[in-house]
Amino acid sequence: MPDARIARLQAAVPTLQLRTDPADLAHYGVDWTRRWTPAPLAVALPADIAEVQATVRWARAEGVAIVPSGGRTGLSGGAVAANGELVLSLQRMNRVLGFDPVDRILTVQPGIALEAVQEAARGHGLAYPVDFAARGSCTIGGNIATNAGGIRVLRYGNTREWIAGLKLVTGTGELLDLGRGLVKNSSGYDLRHLAIASEGTLGIIVEASLKLAAPPPATRTLLLALPSFEGLMQVFQALRARLALEAFEFFTDRALHHVVAHGAQAPFDAPHPFYVVAEFACEGEAGEVAMLSAFEHCVEQGWVEDGVIGQSDAQATQLWRLREGITESLAPHVPYKNDVSVRISAMPAFLEAAQALLAREYPQFDVVWFGHIGDGNLHINVLKPADLANDAFVAQCERVTKLLAATLQAHGGSISAEHGIGLVKKPYLDSTRSAAEIAVMRGIRRALDPDGILNPGKLFDA
Ligand code: FAD
Ligand code: MLT
Ligand code: ZN
Repeated sequence: MPDARIARLQAAVPTLQLRTDPADLAHYGVDWTRRWTPAPLAVALPADIAEVQATVRWARAEGVAIVPSGGRTGLSGGAVAANGELVLSLQRMNRVLGFDPVDRILTVQPGIALEAVQEAARGHGLAYPVDFAARGSCTIGGNIATNAGGIRVLRYGNTREWIAGLKLVTGTGELLDLGRGLVKNSSGYDLRHLAIASEGTLGIIVEASLKLAAPPPATRTLLLALPSFEGLMQVFQALRARLALEAFEFFTDRALHHVVAHGAQAPFDAPHPFYVVAEFACEGEAGEVAMLSAFEHCVEQGWVEDGVIGQSDAQATQLWRLREGITESLAPHVPYKNDVSVRISAMPAFLEAAQALLAREYPQFDVVWFGHIGDGNLHINVLKPADLANDAFVAQCERVTKLLAATLQAHGGSISAEHGIGLVKKPYLDSTRSAAEIAVMRGIRRALDPDGILNPGKLFDA
């Protein structure tokens, strides 16, 4: 028997594509966390803004919660539907709507994949510079809703920097047209920025206008092997002072171990404790000289033990694979993910405290460190031993995350740098945001979604 509420939705929006078979419910009810058992009421796949608005109005009238859904590559449980919600997937709204060469603005629907946006930008001789390994399957809507970061934040900033405008359907079904591509607009609150990183709790992003950048410069990629964590920030400062860095990413030997076990080629004969992938603008002879002198300086100081220079695009891609392949290689080990940030200047002190904490609390677990160290953003992945039950493993990691959150608070950091809070980090939000801030956030939420139907239970409880 179809649920009567779904029958009424179909009657109210006859063109709306709806799916209720168990395989679809299981598929659309989870994100990359795979921690919660999917149990949505149904999946709606609107084709346009009017269908989104009508669905929201139905949900409000019926008291059904909506989980906005993009590529479900999220790592915080933001797109999980485990409590009879309607999954509202934007996957059919995936087209480029237009390009304005004067404004250098690309307008897209929310379900378009990040990679398709990058390709469209290249097609206009420009670039959309937000980039990370999930580019083929994550969507612009999800990127905006999480303020996604990635591997080029150091040079180009987070998703937020590239949003010239967006259209948002609120919890009442109202359509707001925010920003409208204006470079300057001092006319009160910029609601566009509230929607960015709101994780689907303030509205459904139904259209986005994206700023495009000049095409990237010619670059070179270096893989560096480091003997110690202490040298890491020194290498960062030395390279930043001498080269125009486009990316500076680090990972540990444990990360390399898993990527190589997953099929990547080992870059060095012997293991080293830490590695950096650095990419930088490099033009002509002068660029080569600057690169070599920066490398030699780091070796002379004892911060770097070995290095590989990508001699071709194919080699650079191979070096990048060592960093970008980490998430996929860890997935079979059911990682518990921390995604933390501190100010770059606070990184050495935080690293010392966090390393001591995790060595003490996780003596028996494989703990894999990697991330966007040049942005002050560390990913700490704790791998589940095969013989430990998932619940017991998560309980142990949650206890330690509480301690980590206190350490972050002491160093002025954040419990989520770029993945969002979702369900995973909800218990620790108050380590990063004050009670007064959270109260304001709740008030904003009530203004845009008075009945609390948009992604309830994510980010914070109403
Ligand atoms: P989903 O997972 O579908 O949703 C994420 C959140 O956004 C949910 O709360 C959802 O409700 C909401 N949402 C989705 N669409 C909309 C919409 N149209 N309107 C309103 N709310 C919406 N993230 C980084 O920041 N940096 C990285 O380097 C990075 N690397 C990754 C690498 C891999 C291999 C994987 C699997 C993930 C990685 N991620 C990274 C995490 C993830 O890809 C990002 O969080 C991404 O922005 C999620 O996009 P999505 O379309 O998959 O969103
Ligand atoms: C990354 O930087 O690789 C991503 O944020 C994904 C992850 O943390 O696993
Ligand atoms: Zn990341």
